[in-house]
Amino acid sequence: MKEALEQIRTAALDAIAQAENSRAVDDIKVKFLGKKGELTSILKQMGKLSAEERPVIGQLANQIRGELEQSIAAAQQQLKEKQLLAQIKAETLDVTMPGKKFDLGKKHPLTLVMDEIKEIFLGMGFDVVDGPEVELDYYNFEALNIPKNHPARDTQDTFYITENTLLRTQTSPVQIRTMEQRKPPIRVISPGRVFRSDALDATHSPVFHQIEGLVVDKNITMSDLKGTLELFIKKLYGEDSVVRFRPHHFPFTEPSAETDVMCFHCHGKGCRLCKGEGWIEILGAGMVHPKVLENCGIDPEEYSGFAFGMGLERVVMRRFAIDDIRLFFENDKRFLEQF
Ligand code: PHE
Repeated sequence: MKEALEQIRTAALDAIAQAENSRAVDDIKVKFLGKKGELTSILKQMGKLSAEERPVIGQLANQIRGELEQSIAAAQQQLKEKQLLAQIKAETLDVTMPGKKFDLGKKHPLTLVMDEIKEIFLGMGFDVVDGPEVELDYYNFEALNIPKNHPARDTQDTFYITENTLLRTQTSPVQIRTMEQRKPPIRVISPGRVFRSDALDATHSPVFHQIEGLVVDKNITMSDLKGTLELFIKKLYGEDSVVRFRPHHFPFTEPSAETDVMCFHCHGKGCRLCKGEGWIEILGAGMVHPKVLENCGIDPEEYSGFAFGMGLERVVMRRFAIDDIRLFFENDKRFLEQF
């Protein structure tokens, strides 16, 4: 029996020395030390031994078990390290390789200036309100005192969806929605996209942005309109800006005006930027028409107000000397990176 044990020891140690991976070592462990392993089955025969032999063989068996357990653990450890080394070798990193470049996003020039304009009006106590881009005929035209036969309703300008729904051609319908929802005093601006059936060229786009403004309260006069817009333009274009108001016509304001700023390039002399005019048109404005107030349930005898609207693209084009409106919508990174 002693010989059998010695044989097991030699065989197991040999096998361990030859094992090439930890799976093989696991198998060896089962083969020799497992419940049905070789060492175990020898020990099961201990009953046959004499009382003197039993402790001697028992001791030897335990010694061999300990020895084998130890060399199995050592072999596992060694194989693990070997495997790790092989892995590290196979996965070498080239630390001199250039890294991936991540481009940081930037605000679109339209957003930049829109944010600036919002800040200016927020500072004057205005709220920012929103309205739908798909609008009812009633809000875009009817309630704004633009009757059914008005040329602005021409299908050439307006994208109709059905007879009564359309893509809003201006942000002015938000005036009506605001006056329906709020009681005076009202002080809001409403920036957003508007749509007109224009062919795309350097100065026209079927989609562009407007910013609408509306103030309604007791005793609001044309001076409030002029003062507010002058302050706004000076904040946007600089304190030395010269502003002028020209009589104009809008169906939903009376009286109406267009607001110009003196050309900052030629200071009124006339140049290419202002097309020889000396002045650049910035926005349309006027006192809210009494009929419009009435349409919204506001008594024009008690309240008055002013409204204005401006095109964002034009303001931004002038600010950054951009000569083609299409650049805003093409999203060429070489363009966008410049702001
Ligand atoms: N909605 C007008 C336009 O699109 C601008 C405007 C707004 C004029 C408010 C007067 C008052 O041209």
